[in-house]
Parts: sequence; structure tokens; C-alpha cells
Amino acid sequence: MVGKKIILAVTGSIAAYKAAHLVRLLVKKGAEAQVLMTPSAASFITPLTLSTLSKKPVFTEIISDSAWNSHVELGLWADAMVVAPATANSLAKLAHGICDNLVSAVYLSARCPVFLAPAMDLDMWKHPSTQENVRRLKSFGNHFLPVGYGELASGLVGEGRMAEPEEIVTFLEGFFQRKQDFSGRKVLITAGPTYEAIDPVRFIGNRSSGKMGMAIAEEFARRGASVTLLLGPSKLNPAHPGIQTVRVESAREMHEAALQFFETTDIAILSAAVADYRPRNVAEQKIKKAGDSMTLELEKTPDIAASLGKMKRSGQFIVGFALETTDELKNASEKLVKKNFDFIVLNSLKDAGAGFNFDTNKITILHRDNMRTDFELKTKAEVAEDIVNEVGRCIGVLAF
Ligand code: PMT
Repeated sequence: MVGKKIILAVTGSIAAYKAAHLVRLLVKKGAEAQVLMTPSAASFITPLTLSTLSKKPVFTEIISDSAWNSHVELGLWADAMVVAPATANSLAKLAHGICDNLVSAVYLSARCPVFLAPAMDLDMWKHPSTQENVRRLKSFGNHFLPVGYGELASGLVGEGRMAEPEEIVTFLEGFFQRKQDFSGRKVLITAGPTYEAIDPVRFIGNRSSGKMGMAIAEEFARRGASVTLLLGPSKLNPAHPGIQTVRVESAREMHEAALQFFETTDIAILSAAVADYRPRNVAEQKIKKAGDSMTLELEKTPDIAASLGKMKRSGQFIVGFALETTDELKNASEKLVKKNFDFIVLNSLKDAGAGFNFDTNKITILHRDNMRTDFELKTKAEVAEDIVNEVGRCIGVLAF
């Protein structure tokens, strides 16, 4: 933690008293802690206490005497932002981009990883609105400290206690240690759908949103890799500065870009849903409606994965994906071998919440020696972490 710049945002919960201990631990570990408070947090613990412990002034207002835009500067300054305690109200604001206090404004400006330590009563925590906000915030790539179980301030017993300051610091230390485990590695990722033009108006496409590939790109970038993301037509924009995005439309464009970057790639993750066929002829003008039926002649697109699999040299590592609807394991195993992947990530449209466009996915990882790991349904950010960890174990970056 030495030299790490940490924003500690304290919101209005009784657990705010734990912020004093958290600041103390961060400072003891050598971190620079900048405390922000919502106005209601200041009812639970005084800014004076936290500023004395952090040895810095505590900020509570978006507009200060000296500047109006400190939230932008703070967002850029930090290596990590920790919201502890994070109330149900604050989670709701952060999940929906509401920006009516300094904490929510800095959150929107932050380019660093954000850690949220919820604290609230058990029914508030269990409420579908809160759980939906948590799910939404996770899908944006935020990290959650698990809530604890025990006696709550209301006297009720259940889940909702804020993680202990020691747990939060251990979590942060783990994150920073792991963060750089892919430093110096070049990662190429394909993501999203491809569009194959029929005429200037229509195309053959598919339902991929790009979320899965984007989550993998973000995870590698967070952990120090230099990432090139070949992204088919998708509304998403990567937030991490370590990601170079090359936007493509068709399988042919994605193939050309992949061939260009693969030479210098250490790890390729092929999560794009690439069209297997495209119209043989693309009409220059919009095709007019005529007759009761029409026939499109299709030809094969280049198989990007198979091309890279053929080019793969010692030291390069390729992960493929398989999206299946029947005979999942058999089909995925065949693709694994045929395309010369090092392992393949299978997702099936038979599993609720898995595949296209969901914020969640349920995967099985299959290796060439038939070793297989089945994962639970998780957010795509968590699935990305599982996949990146598996790559890390295979190439010797992670021990376990
Ligand atoms: O983008 P999301 O909405 O988050 O959805 C994620 C996803 C469902 C698209 C993703 O998890 C996924 O499964 N991607 C692969 C989908 C697919 O096209 O699988 P496939 O079984 O058809 O292809 C096998 C492998 O070959 C894949 O790695 C694919 O990228 C690759 N391929 C396929 C055809 C082709 N012409 N070139 C390729 O590189």
C-alpha cells in the first residue's frame, strides 16, 4: 500500500465510525488517504476526527472556496476509491449516475478501481432495489466488499454489517498485489458481433453486445496488461486507459486487424461472435421489395480463430469461446482442438442468464487434457476474473 493514493468516501451510516480505524490502518500501511464525506456522514463522525487521522483536510462539498472542479482532479488523482460505509441511498445514486454530492461526483469522475463496502439494515440490504443496484454497480466493474452477518444497529440480526476495516485493507492489498500480475503482457481480444452487409441498409448480424469481451479487456488492463480490443459494432466504450480499441464492422475487417496485431501478442482471447457466412455480393443500392421470396447467396467468412491457431508459436496462448445450444461439451471440445486453442470457454444458451447481452454469464472451461471446471452464474466482470485467473495459472503468472 506504500505510496498508494486512496480516496475514502464516507457516507451516512452508523458504520461511519469504523472509517476512523480504516483511515488509521491505511496511513499505517503507507497509503495517502484523502477522505470525502457526504453531509449526512458528518452527523455520525466529525470531519475533524478523520482529517486528524489522515493528516489532510476532509472534503464535503463539490464547490469549495478555492475551486469548483476538485471532483475531477480527485477522480484522476486516486489509485483507488473506497466507499465505506456505502449506504443503500449512496449505492442507488452511484448505480444511476445521480450526482448531487461530492462523493457521487468524484465516483463519476474516477478512472481508478472503485471498492464499495455496503452497510445497512438486513431488510434494506435484501430489498430487490438494493440488490438490483448492487448487480448494476458490479456490471460496471466496481468491486464489492462482502457484507458481514451479525447484530445490526437496529438490534436485528442478519446480513448488512460493513466489512471490518482490516478486511477492507487486506482486500485492497490483494488487489494491488494482483493488479500488476499481467504487466508487460500484450493481450489481443476480439469482442462483440460482426455485421455483414447485404446492401447499404441491411446486414446479417447477431445478438452479441460486446459485454463479455469488454469485461475481459477491463480485467486484463486492470492487472497491468497492454490490451488491444478488436470490437465489432457495439454501444460500449472501454473506460480503462490501458485498452486500445480498434473498431471493426465485418468478419473480414476483424480478421485483418487480428492478423496485424497477433504477431506481437502474448495472449489472445477470442470472445467475438463472428458471422460464419456473409452475402457473396453486396448490393450497391438498397434492394427493392419484389416477389414473395428472395434468395441470398452466402459465402464463408474467414475463421479468425482458426487462422490465429495456425499461426500460434511457442509462448503464445489462445483462449477461444464456444456458444452452443446443443451437444455443448462435444462441440466445444471439437472447436478447442480444431482451432488449436489452449483452452475454451463454453457458454450455453440453455442456461438462464448466460450468453448474449446479459450482465451475467455461466461458463465451463475446458482444457486440452479434458480437465473441466464448471462455474456458477456470475456477473460478466466476475466471469472475466475467472478466465483471466485461469490464463494466469496456465502461463505461470498465478500460483493457485
Ligand atoms: O457480447 P455478449 O453479449 O456479452 O455475449 C458474449 C458471447 C455470448 C458472444 C460470448 O460469450 C461468446 O460465446 N462468444 C463466442 C460466440 C461464438 O461465435 O462462438 P462460436 O462457437 O461460433 O465460435 C467459436 C470460436 O471461434 C469463438 O472463439 C469465435 O470468436 C471464433 N470464431 C468463429 C467464427 C469466425 N469466423 N471467426 C472466429 O474467430
